[in-house]
Amino acid sequence: MRKLDLSVQFAGIEMKNPVTTASGTFSARDSGQFYDIGRLGAVVTKGVASEPWAGNPTPRIGETYGGMLNAVGLQNPGADAFIADELAYLKQFSTPVIANVAGRTAEEYCLAVEKLSETDVAMLEINISCPNVKEGGIGFGTDPRMAAEITRAVKSVSKKPILVKLTPNVTDITEIAKAVEAEGADGISLINTLLGMKIDVQRKKPVLANIMGGFSGPAIKPVAVRMVYQVRRAVQIPIMGLGGIMTGEDAAEFIMAGADVISVGTAALVNPTAPVDILEELEAYMEEQGFKTIADIRQAFQG
Ligand SMILES: Cc1cc2nc3c(=O)[nH]c(=O)nc-3n(C[C@H](O)[C@H](O)[C@H](O)COP(=O)(O)O)c2cc1C
Repeated sequence: MRKLDLSVQFAGIEMKNPVTTASGTFSARDSGQFYDIGRLGAVVTKGVASEPWAGNPTPRIGETYGGMLNAVGLQNPGADAFIADELAYLKQFSTPVIANVAGRTAEEYCLAVEKLSETDVAMLEINISCPNVKEGGIGFGTDPRMAAEITRAVKSVSKKPILVKLTPNVTDITEIAKAVEAEGADGISLINTLLGMKIDVQRKKPVLANIMGGFSGPAIKPVAVRMVYQVRRAVQIPIMGLGGIMTGEDAAEFIMAGADVISVGTAALVNPTAPVDILEELEAYMEEQGFKTIADIRQAFQG
């Protein structure tokens, strides 16, 4: 029997398999204690801005049925410290690095992109979808005109392929996807978190100091699968699918919906080895189904 071949081409980068880590839920040094990072198709790092950001006040995390709320607010050490620390550490692993980029203005995104373009990251993921920051963030991701403007700006300064990460907090996700594709985005990742809220009825107060936060985890998966399916039919560029992936079969579901690669987020906060567990489960699913390649999974879908 021929061996499984999970390799994929994703927006110009070669990946040994389609499993990646979702931004904000992966730290190389933490994960490196639990598994060989080099087994993953790629890693997507925590959001980084041109300068350090303090993030939001605590409490910033809340648990919900089937998921969690976070309002970390893109706390990060800034691009220079990120390059010197996280990126330098990641060099030792044979896996492409996708750096996630945050900004409050087009200028801030461009500054970070310029700095990261000079490193050996394989690709940049532009987060225009964070629901927890006052300026920038989601504002760019909910308006096709602004999403296009940011994409155009970062494309003009980037030496690396650009993935644009979309927010699900919109009426028609395909409008935003088409707008960023038209400006030359090399790929799209979706979804970021859904805007959510939880109230502590004993304390009679919102659980998060920020009041609202990003809702992630298995409860959001049907929304994410639906959006990947819609966007796959609206654009030609590759898609990274994520949102509530907890198992190998969840990963296969996203591939059937139209994702080229997938990302594991909240699952890795629950169980640090989730990304490699999901990779192994995906392989087991392929064996069981008689699939040899990732394309076989997609082609088997009858929807
Ligand atoms: C604690 C936390 C921090 C996050 N930080 C970022 C971030 O910095 N940049 C980003 O684009 N997405 C960020 N996200 C969103 C995730 O990358 C992902 O899109 C979302 O959580 C949905 O996937 P999941 O349900 O598998 O977690 C964060 C999510 C969580 C839970």
